Amino acid sequence: MRHHWSGRMAFMLCLALSPGLALAQQTTTQPPAPEQTTTQAPAQTPPQATTAPATAPASAESTALPACTDCHDAMKAIASTAHAHGMAKKGEVPNTVCESCHGDGKAHIEGGGDKEKIYKPVGVAGANKTCMLCHDIATDRISRHAGVHANSPAVNCLTCHSIHTPEAHAPHLLAKKQLALCDSCHMTQVASFRNKPYAHRLGRGGMECSSCHEPHGLPGRDNLRTTRAGEIPCLTCHADKRGPFVFQHGSFAIGDCMTCHEPHGSSNPKQLKRATVAQLCIECHSPIGGTTLGSQPPAFHNLNSPQYRNCTTCHVAVHGSNRDPQLLK
Ligand code: HEC
Ligand code: HEC
Ligand code: HEC
Ligand code: HEC
Ligand code: HEC
Ligand code: HEC
Ligand code: HEC
Ligand code: HEC
Ligand code: HEC
Ligand code: HEC
Repeated sequence: MRHHWSGRMAFMLCLALSPGLALAQQTTTQPPAPEQTTTQAPAQTPPQATTAPATAPASAESTALPACTDCHDAMKAIASTAHAHGMAKKGEVPNTVCESCHGDGKAHIEGGGDKEKIYKPVGVAGANKTCMLCHDIATDRISRHAGVHANSPAVNCLTCHSIHTPEAHAPHLLAKKQLALCDSCHMTQVASFRNKPYAHRLGRGGMECSSCHEPHGLPGRDNLRTTRAGEIPCLTCHADKRGPFVFQHGSFAIGDCMTCHEPHGSSNPKQLKRATVAQLCIECHSPIGGTTLGSQPPAFHNLNSPQYRNCTTCHVAVHGSNRDPQLLK
């Protein structure tokens, strides 16, 4: 389901292709200028040794240089993450790993750590140039370009992910645990889960916002994840509510789960949209009759009697039934 294989492929491709690409750009359009190397993205920085085979980890020249981590000890932590996978040996990270995001570090090292001579990816520009180099994969299910979280100054790879200092127990190099991360921009929704008495429990190792929402772009959708059959995310876990039933509850006209439930939690039991079950049902099954979507409850339903107000004590199969058209079993 995930694109581990293609991701790794892309990584290899980047290592293999970017020097060539950089060379082409360098020779055709960009006269070498000293400041340019400091601000350019890695793909555009001049390659160290263009004649080296693409798969060679480093040129002879760069192995003679000190390791980046000799001076940046804290950055060794990257050794245990996906970005050094298979390349770090006994916690030692080859410079090529660092250079895959920071570009050629030779001038920086020779300058004794001259800050002006090394590229640091920041903000939307850094996200676009550096992260997209390897993560913009055409076969991905998701899009990095479209959707509400496509790279922008307000929200981009680097607002949500941290390469060097991810939150200790958060997976996927998240800058913060997911709930806290989403909370920094969507307080209302997070507060709803926290404060409403009837809500899915998030952030305790099971469900997360991302159980229903794709944090990255989904073209043409408001970032709701779908099941493999392309249906709303609820059905991933509540497949029993999907049917198909012999007796559907009102088929398509009735809408989806959100017709009756609040996805972000509710003050009402079972995350219902209305305080009582009867209120919910009567919106479509008015005893007065006339114009509502659903049928009229038969006359013996005495809605003044508490017994009748809890519709689902009798209509237990409110999501659909295989046995009874009145959804009584
Ligand atoms: C996958 C991309 C990536 C790789 C690989 C990577 N870095 Fe970085 N690095 C970044 C980004 C993005 C930033 C800026 C955001 C941040 O500080 O986390 C950064 C920031 C830095 C900084 C500045 C920190 C600061 O506080 O301003 C240093 C120093 C650094 N990296 C060194 C290294 C070294 C050394 C390596 C190899 C061991 C390395 N990086 C590997 C992406 C990367
Ligand atoms: C000789 C020691 C030394 C080596 C080796 C070294 N650096 Fe640095 N680096 C420094 C110093 C010093 C700074 C400046 C720190 C500061 O001013 O906060 C720095 C700063 C940086 C920054 C931050 C730049 C910014 O704009 O804030 C990055 C990124 C970085 N180094 C990456 C690397 C990478 C990648 C390598 C290996 C290719 C490397 N460094 C090797 C000493 C070194
Ligand atoms: C040189 C290629 C390359 C660059 C540049 C790069 N990545 Fe990656 N990244 C990879 C590979 C390869 C993986 C592992 C893919 C996989 O396992 O699916 C990965 C994995 C990740 C993961 C998942 C980690 C996990 O534990 O699940 C995140 C998050 C990520 N990268 C974010 C970023 C961000 C943010 C940037 C920009 C600062 C960036 N990457 C730049 C190649 C790259
Ligand atoms: C709004 C926050 C947010 C933004 C922006 C964001 N991510 Fe993520 N990313 C997440 C979360 C949350 C997860 C974990 C998803 C999960 O648990 O299913 C994740 C997971 C990942 C993964 C690993 C899982 C996978 O899908 O393979 C990669 C790789 C990744 N992000 C890369 C990126 C890159 C590259 C960018 C920028 C183009 C980016 N992300 C932008 C929040 C974000
Ligand atoms: C850095 C800020 C930021 C973070 C962090 C962030 N978002 Fe967003 N999100 C936005 C912006 C900006 C939009 C688009 C504007 C809007 O509709 O609010 C958006 C839109 C959305 C939408 C679509 C809203 C709609 O009306 O269609 C969803 C769903 C969403 N975000 C979920 C999440 C989830 C889940 C997380 C945590 C993984 C998250 N966001 C983290 C900034 C953020
Ligand atoms: C159980 C599934 C589910 C979970 C978990 C979930 N959402 Fe949603 N979210 C939805 C659905 C469904 C919608 C669309 C609402 C609609 O169509 O009525 C939505 C809509 C949104 C919107 C658009 C504005 C709005 O409120 O309708 C934002 C923003 C959002 N969610 C953020 C989040 C954040 C942040 C989290 C985690 C705290 C989260 N969601 C967790 C299902 C979920
Ligand atoms: C990742 C799995 C998952 C997804 C996706 C999911 N749910 Fe749930 N749902 C659960 C679990 C587990 C429970 C019971 C434990 C709990 O309350 O957290 C539950 C409980 C419920 C309950 C009953 C609460 C009660 O008080 O008995 C309702 C109603 C519900 N979900 C509706 C939805 C709707 C609507 C959606 C889609 C917007 C959805 N769920 C998406 C896992 C999921
Ligand atoms: C016509 C309104 C309606 C629709 C549409 C609806 N539900 Fe419900 N649902 C209810 C009512 C009413 C209850 C409470 C039943 C009770 O009182 O025991 C409930 C209870 C639940 C429960 C908790 C009790 C149980 O049976 O497990 C879950 C989970 C649930 N619904 C999920 C869903 C999902 C998922 C969808 C979408 C596929 C959905 N519902 C669509 C009305 C509805
Ligand atoms: C969004 C509107 C809507 C809501 C809310 C709703 N229903 Fe329905 N219901 C329908 C529709 C439409 C039908 C199909 C009616 C028809 O075929 O004339 C239906 C059919 C039924 C039937 C099958 C008998 C029949 O007339 O086909 C029963 C029983 C029923 N609903 C009970 C309930 C109960 C109990 C609730 C509250 C938990 C409820 N409904 C909530 C729209 C709704
Ligand atoms: C004490 C049990 C009981 C309760 C409580 C109950 N019903 Fe019924 N309902 C029935 C029975 C039994 C039938 C089937 C009657 C028949 O077959 O003629 C029925 C039939 C229906 C029908 C189908 C009408 C048709 O045209 O086929 C609807 C709609 C309905 N009920 C709605 C509701 C609503 C709304 C509530 C809550 C306000 C409710 N019921 C509460 C027992 C109950």
